[in-house]
Amino acid sequence: MRRGFATLAFAAVLAIGAVGYAAENGPPPWAFAANPLAPQPAAPVADDGTQKHVANSSVGLTLSQIKDPFNIPEWHPDNHPAAPDIVTHGRKPGVLGCGYCHLPNGLGRPENAALAGLPAAYITQQIADFRNGARNSAIPDLVPAKLMVGIAKAATDDDIKQAAEYFSGLSFTPWIRVVEAATVPKTHVAGYMLAPDAAGGSEPIGQRIVETPENLAETELRDSGSGFIAYVPPGSIKRGERLVMKGGAGKSMPCGTCHGIDLKGLGPVPPLAGRSPSYVVRQLYDMQHGNRAGLWSPLMVGVVRDLTPEDLVDIAAYTASRRP
Ligand code: HEC
Ligand code: HEC
Repeated sequence: MRRGFATLAFAAVLAIGAVGYAAENGPPPWAFAANPLAPQPAAPVADDGTQKHVANSSVGLTLSQIKDPFNIPEWHPDNHPAAPDIVTHGRKPGVLGCGYCHLPNGLGRPENAALAGLPAAYITQQIADFRNGARNSAIPDLVPAKLMVGIAKAATDDDIKQAAEYFSGLSFTPWIRVVEAATVPKTHVAGYMLAPDAAGGSEPIGQRIVETPENLAETELRDSGSGFIAYVPPGSIKRGERLVMKGGAGKSMPCGTCHGIDLKGLGPVPPLAGRSPSYVVRQLYDMQHGNRAGLWSPLMVGVVRDLTPEDLVDIAAYTASRRP
């Protein structure tokens, strides 16, 4: 009986969706960027043995070296302090070096997270949540998030202690340029992020954030010195400011109470200023839908409950635009 009812309800939702009245359209694909099943040949694939180079670095690395998660590419050994082994080499078989994805300077990419300057206690708690299944993704097969869960499970407590000490000691420096724009470059998903179409072209931004590398070629080489640009809808930063600073007249809660008045973090609560807006939307969405339900997530339940998809975009546009 229960099951029959659920099936009926599901059919009804589908029917509503089909005529376009769905209030909820699922995880926003630009924040949960999943590679197409047959990936476009955006990145160079075969190693021809030649050394690649990036701006402001005298280092030369082959493609095989760049793609080695157990000996991560170090383009700029000077843009961060000496990193512990777990960050640069990980531990075979299951723990890829943290810096492979989060970058050795901890500034991160849209498909993962900036770790630079996160409180150590917060990092430790998130790993515990990934391990015990409380923190997941609304898209269970999203490869980067799945890998993170596997890494948290395979890492030892000592690995995490060293990584947490290292990343919490780094400062998060400006890394993402936020630009309000009605028209944005046409993009496709490559490497789990939005990449500008090679053919060029532009399209309306709509209700999206389009976060893409400032220099696609350098980002594809995992350059920790080349950041991102985030296009956000016109007016979103101002609308977001009202929600963040005032809690949107009872709709949510002022974020500064817990995240610090300047959004730079407070005690174990993480900073928001300047961090990837697609990451922020992904987290708020996951919290709204119970996919992120860790030990500390209940503090965010009342914050996210009544926020609309548009509110999430506005909030992330504002927090990303703040100087870290
Ligand atoms: C294969 C890529 C990859 C590697 C390697 C990796 N991570 Fe992650 N990590 C991710 C992704 C993807 C997320 C974000 C998941 C999401 O969007 O919910 C993440 C999120 C996190 C977060 C949560 C950040 C926050 O603000 O809540 C922490 C903490 C973290 N990783 C720590 C580590 C540590 C420590 C290591 C090394 C032991 C590591 N990661 C290695 C991909 C990776
Ligand atoms: C009552 C305290 C409180 C308030 C108010 C609050 N937060 Fe949070 N926030 C937290 C805590 C605690 C966490 C960590 C949750 C967890 O571990 O799952 C968090 C996590 C987050 C994260 C995930 C960060 C990351 O690194 O993954 C985002 C994004 C966020 N909050 C945004 C907001 C925004 C936007 C507002 C205001 C509209 C807000 N928060 C208001 C306590 C709060």
